[in-house]
Amino acid sequence: DDPPLFCGKHVLVTAGPTREKLDPVRYFSNYSSGKMGYAIAEAAARFGASVTLVSGPTALAAPDGVEIVPVESAAEMYEAVMARFAETDIVIKAAAVADYRPKYVAAEKIKKQPGDYVVEMERTIDILKTLGEQKTRQILVGFAAETDNLEQYALKKLEEKRLDLVIANNVTEEGAGFAGDTNIVTIFRRDGATRPLPLMTKREAAEEILKEIHAYTEGIR
Ligand code: PMT
Repeated sequence: DDPPLFCGKHVLVTAGPTREKLDPVRYFSNYSSGKMGYAIAEAAARFGASVTLVSGPTALAAPDGVEIVPVESAAEMYEAVMARFAETDIVIKAAAVADYRPKYVAAEKIKKQPGDYVVEMERTIDILKTLGEQKTRQILVGFAAETDNLEQYALKKLEEKRLDLVIANNVTEEGAGFAGDTNIVTIFRRDGATRPLPLMTKREAAEEILKEIHAYTEGIR
């Protein structure tokens, strides 16, 4: 008995980590499992949306009724998202995208040498910020993974990336953030409404996030 809140809507979700290559056998990444983003994609499909899930490498199966687009790096995720942005109504960026990547990718395996090894890193493109600059009618929903000053940093992201909603999680809190089956999130809306949610499963959190997005688009506080 899922409410058909998103009938006729195209929802694009990103999930999982990115991998930034150093050489043919090594990469930089993070602890994202994809669970939060997959739960959102799955719930959006149950709520009637046509869903595309742009996913970094995860161990998860594609949710029922969701079109999955596998990517590896931040650059690939950028291309996949931008190519679909025009036809998208709502973008939800749950992916943990690398902010830096190795400046030089070695064509051959880097050999062990005596002494320290320094990797020079360069910035990746901020996908969400680019979407914020290019958005016309789209609703943009970002995540903020923080370890301190949750509200302050979340609101800064809402402003700087021109988001409609930001979902903040303190990734140092027990039961919240990366890899587990639960999360503790606070939803901040552009119109000033704030909704702190208690510990719940990522599946439940996904439903609450989608209901809040719907309420926001309807102007319901
Ligand atoms: O995957 P799980 O194991 O279930 O864990 C869930 C989660 C902790 C990964 C998820 O809840 C979460 O917080 N995702 C966002 C992680 C993150 O990268 O946060 P951030 O504060 O660094 O980035 C802010 C926002 O900008 C995010 O929506 C991110 O997708 C986006 N971003 C960041 C960098 C970049 N180059 N491009 C982006 O679009």
